[in-house]
Amino acid sequence: MNNKEHNPEDWEFETLAVRAGSIRSGEREHSEAIYLTSSFVYESAQQAQAVFAGDEEGNVYSRYTNPSVKMFEERMAALEGGELACASSSGMAAILGMCMALLKAGDHVVCSRSVFGTTVTVFNKYLARFGVETTFVDFTDYDQWQQACRPETKLFFLETPSNPLGEVVDIEKMASLAHDNGAWLMVDNCFCTPALQQPLKLGADIVVHSTTKFIDGQGRCMGGVAVGSKELISEMHLWQRAAGASMSPFNAWNFFKSLETLSLRMDAHCRNAMELAQWLEQHSAVEKVYYSGLPSHNGHELAKKQQKAFGGVLAFTVKGGRQEAWSVIDRLQIISRTANLGDTRSTVTHPATTTHSRLSDEDKQRAGITENLVRISVGLESVNDLKKDLESGLSSLT
Ligand SMILES: Cc1ncc(COP(=O)(O)O)c(C=O)c1O
Repeated sequence: MNNKEHNPEDWEFETLAVRAGSIRSGEREHSEAIYLTSSFVYESAQQAQAVFAGDEEGNVYSRYTNPSVKMFEERMAALEGGELACASSSGMAAILGMCMALLKAGDHVVCSRSVFGTTVTVFNKYLARFGVETTFVDFTDYDQWQQACRPETKLFFLETPSNPLGEVVDIEKMASLAHDNGAWLMVDNCFCTPALQQPLKLGADIVVHSTTKFIDGQGRCMGGVAVGSKELISEMHLWQRAAGASMSPFNAWNFFKSLETLSLRMDAHCRNAMELAQWLEQHSAVEKVYYSGLPSHNGHELAKKQQKAFGGVLAFTVKGGRQEAWSVIDRLQIISRTANLGDTRSTVTHPATTTHSRLSDEDKQRAGITENLVRISVGLESVNDLKKDLESGLSSLT
């Protein structure tokens, strides 16, 4: 089948996930090929000149473009509903790359306090050195976002749902607020993936991902991607050519193959997470469960409106403190003690001493990162086995 015969706009998400993207080798392969090559050859010096000049379509060098990477970019752009995507070597390279492509000295950023720690470092330490100032605000306090704006504000940055408490903001409202203040809205959509939430369709200008998470879904490869309008993402492509944080073709191949099962995987992650959250909520050793699929969660109604389902990550506090949380974590036999998430395998972290350990005590308190908090990225194992595994830890507390 020639994908070019079809207009992907007619296709639903699941079809796009399997078939969007037009790059084929001409060898009639059914499963798209992997192009492990650093450079490309030409018929003649004249053709080389034309391709280098951009007068003829073609690849030059895999730091610029590579067919496998382009294939992944086309599929991601289709899934997020953007015009263009730019893949990068990691999620951080996508976030930094978009900022380097769009911002200049004197510009100002408003950023949610509840974003990935390294994202805070990029804004706080590195972009600050180049004259880009960032104001951090409480994620769900819309007034703080408005009050932080200045004439030189160019970018709003947020992650929704937030990690690890699953708080949610209204993307449509944030996009209007950003635009009213002359800024772009960039959303890290790593926790939901486009299978559950499409921020561009809600008014965001740029979506970024760590494809290392649910998009790979199997904990194999590092990668990132930014999606948005041709105008904005073309700037990122130019940055990438110069900075060299390009995605490896091997990783791109893994990612676009993984996209084919994204909907099915996300459905199963969400189903398992919901069942586990409901079970934990009834457990006598558990104090509170943070999962937006539960009516008790303060983001439940908004998540229901803006997401297709509630995601695969949940957190809970045990009765007690660090000792009790660690004792639950240390007894687990199935769930892996590792900081990554979005894997077929369930993973567990103690945010206060790992992912969020660099926050000051005050910032931890403000972000709700208590010593008795445990985060689980719920995988695709049998939920009954996951319950039994958690029970072995929790029963030691009762
Ligand atoms: C929400 C979020 N954004 C970005 C990143 C950074 O991605 P990467 O590790 O692929 O650079 C992570 C990593 O954990 C993350 O959780």
